Amino acid sequence: MILPILIHPDPRLKKVADPVADSSDELRALADKMLATMYDAPGIGLAAPQVGIMSRMIVLDCVKEEGEAARPMVMLNPVVEAGSDDLNTYEEGCLSIPEQFADVTRPAEVTVSWMDLDGNAKRETFDGLWATCVQHEIDHLEGKLFIDYLKPLKRQMITRKMVKLKRERARA
Ligand code: NI
Repeated sequence: MILPILIHPDPRLKKVADPVADSSDELRALADKMLATMYDAPGIGLAAPQVGIMSRMIVLDCVKEEGEAARPMVMLNPVVEAGSDDLNTYEEGCLSIPEQFADVTRPAEVTVSWMDLDGNAKRETFDGLWATCVQHEIDHLEGKLFIDYLKPLKRQMITRKMVKLKRERARA
């Protein structure tokens, strides 16, 4: 089942999401739907607030190589424990801001802790695209979008385009 993805600007995308108490069948079902929605888009990450669920849950799979096995990950209450001084700039996009891309600079390597769907505590260090993606998704749980890293003028320009896009979609 594919979930509708909220498009910026939307007040739910600016809110801080609530911690998840424990794993549950409900969260498991939501994770399956979020992964299906992410792969369908297609995208490499999706945060629960983007589908209107204000819980601290993200899904991601940054495997991009053709023929390489998929690596779907589900993180509950993810926290960036540490980031490298080394920075990396990637051209980021977001399923809530379709067809808009901009360079964002973030720590090149981050250690993230989270709870998995079986309730186990996990911790892993990510680099490359995985590091960028996991930071981008965790930002969503804080009500922060990648355009919040851009200069105000660029951010306003993208927001105006999204307002227009939403108006067009509502009319269609
Ligand atoms: Ni995003």
